Amino acid sequence: MNLIDGKKISDEIKVELQEKIKVLIDSGRKVPGLVTILVGDDPASQSYVGSKSKGCEQLGMHSKIERLDASISEDELLAVVGKYNADPDYHGILVQLPLPNHIDEDKVVEAIAPEKDVDGFHPISVGNLVIGKDTFFPCTPYGIVELLKRYKIETKGKHVVVVGRSNIVGKPIANMMLQKKEGANSIVTICHSAAEDISKYTMQADILIAAIGRANYITSDMVKEGVVVVDVGINRIDDPESGKGYKIVGDVDFDDVAPKSSYITPVPGGVGRMTIAMLLKNTYEAYLKIEQ
Ligand code: GUN
Repeated sequence: MNLIDGKKISDEIKVELQEKIKVLIDSGRKVPGLVTILVGDDPASQSYVGSKSKGCEQLGMHSKIERLDASISEDELLAVVGKYNADPDYHGILVQLPLPNHIDEDKVVEAIAPEKDVDGFHPISVGNLVIGKDTFFPCTPYGIVELLKRYKIETKGKHVVVVGRSNIVGKPIANMMLQKKEGANSIVTICHSAAEDISKYTMQADILIAAIGRANYITSDMVKEGVVVVDVGINRIDDPESGKGYKIVGDVDFDDVAPKSSYITPVPGGVGRMTIAMLLKNTYEAYLKIEQ
């Protein structure tokens, strides 16, 4: 069993970006910028947005958190997005999801200028991804592809089984692995909660991508010997022994599945680490395209 170290790879990506950004700044070019828009005060969202912003600053980019009250109207939020679309100091715009119920998320995501859509959630980005055109890849799937590439895991002709069909992970990663490109070119199956017997699909996986949102759901009897396991889950479970009273586990029962796998991502320290690194990469790429 080989551990896929998301911390190591995300640190490598950040160092690579930091060097490129230093070159830009040393040559007197403008500093790349990201704005994150946070509506309301959900603690998890606050923490994510804080990490994204800190990540930018570590790399020499500038960032701003636009904190808005949960009572903001949809029109007011759309106006804020419009303001940043037109602001040349910001090359990436990220609206942290979920939004309060009275706001139509789709409408807000669609209001983001596609050239600043560093989350890759805009329908134009999604469409370009599906047809294999250059675009912004959503950060978590992008991180998965990068992990597989950097560990030189063969994907061509391999059977990738994705468990979960979310717009943020399941659908985009399935489409990315399907592309006739290096680091992809896989045979792809997506399965989900409507399957009568998920094992029927997971047992066939050469590469299993678990993005279900259920703690320790994948067990060793559901995978074949030598499988590559990518665990996207971030689930909180009670743990009276830890000081906090809880611990974070993935969608895969790590201790059970690891001995049967050839490669496996841990939680924490696996895919989660990659998401922010890829957001920073997307922001840098957005800058290059906008500033030429
Ligand atoms: N909420 C949970 N994950 C994400 C993400 O990747 N981007 C945004 N904008 N919101 C999220």
